Amino acid sequence: MKSAKIVGLGKYLPSKRLTNFDLEKKVDTSDEWIRARTGIKERRIIEDGQGASYLAYKSSVIALKRAGMKAKDLDLIIVATITPDTQFPSTACYLQNYLKAAKACCFDVSAACAGFVYALVTAWQFIRGGLYKNVLVVGSEVLSSVTDWQDRSTCILFGDGAGAAILTPTSKNGFLSAYLGGDGSQSDVLILPGGGSRLPISKEVIDKRLHYIKMRGNELFRLAVRIMVQAAKKSLTKAKLKIEDVNLLVPHQANERIIKAVAKRLNIPLDKVYLNISRYGNMSSASSAVALCEAWEDKKISKGDIVVFDAFGGGLVWGSCIIKWI
Ligand code: UT7
Repeated sequence: MKSAKIVGLGKYLPSKRLTNFDLEKKVDTSDEWIRARTGIKERRIIEDGQGASYLAYKSSVIALKRAGMKAKDLDLIIVATITPDTQFPSTACYLQNYLKAAKACCFDVSAACAGFVYALVTAWQFIRGGLYKNVLVVGSEVLSSVTDWQDRSTCILFGDGAGAAILTPTSKNGFLSAYLGGDGSQSDVLILPGGGSRLPISKEVIDKRLHYIKMRGNELFRLAVRIMVQAAKKSLTKAKLKIEDVNLLVPHQANERIIKAVAKRLNIPLDKVYLNISRYGNMSSASSAVALCEAWEDKKISKGDIVVFDAFGGGLVWGSCIIKWI
């Protein structure tokens, strides 16, 4: 049976750094509190006028180059994002135009922090089904555009960035299993209430700051730990693998304490867990994409390795996917 493999990875982080000390000047918080509660030291912030497609473009060019592929050979572009340039057209369409990938069909995936995992699994299925060959998957977010910079309970968490992966068919078994899930009954735990069709932008929406992320962090924390543990276990069982077979866990980077609690419950030693939250904060769908790219750049992934993705976010949505690096 046809499977897929990742043949190129790229990432792009805006150069502007926002440190915890910078945030101390904006809201009532401290570097000490942020580091202790989240593990974050700094995050990146996009320049004014740029959108998710710009970050996606920068990361995609690198991934294409590393894959030795021309943009004109792409069949499909999937961008995972909850901060699209515009409600429509999709960010994938803007990206297609920047890349001059005229042959590629394009769409966005909205699955919050699990977006990159959802998009990877979607790409794998398109390749497996035989409809497309060369697929670009990007996680790109400009969370600074939906962050309430007056709300200390959320503004310390988020950052901007993008990561890209190129997938192609293989006769070997590259993608071993996936487990995706959702629970729409808990949509209000993490939500951007305003600006959609239910509550279009208005003066009232802006006055009530409903065009920014609202989060019940404490509740989410507990849900994240429980669900990420379950998701990783389910995808491992589906792949007929044991925890000991895992070479690298690439978790969504929402909070270092969440990641450490998940690793502990899964019994995976921390040297097998990729962590970069201290430098970038939570970049939603871009977190897993950037983490995968950096893990590969840092030579933490070798041929034959079992790599496990494990992500969770607003929706609620979650996803775990297992790749054998070939
Ligand atoms: O990406 C999708 C998934 N996202 C997540 O999973 C996020 C999950 N949640 C979290 O990461 C954590 O809940 C936070 C980091 C958001 C908050 O950490 P916490 O340990 O859950 O803190 P808390 O909300 O229980 O607040 C503890 C105290 C409160 O004060 P009191 O009521 O104890 O006096 C807060 O008002 O910390 C206060 N606080 C702050 N203090 C200084 C909240 N935010 C801040 C802040 N600086 N930035």
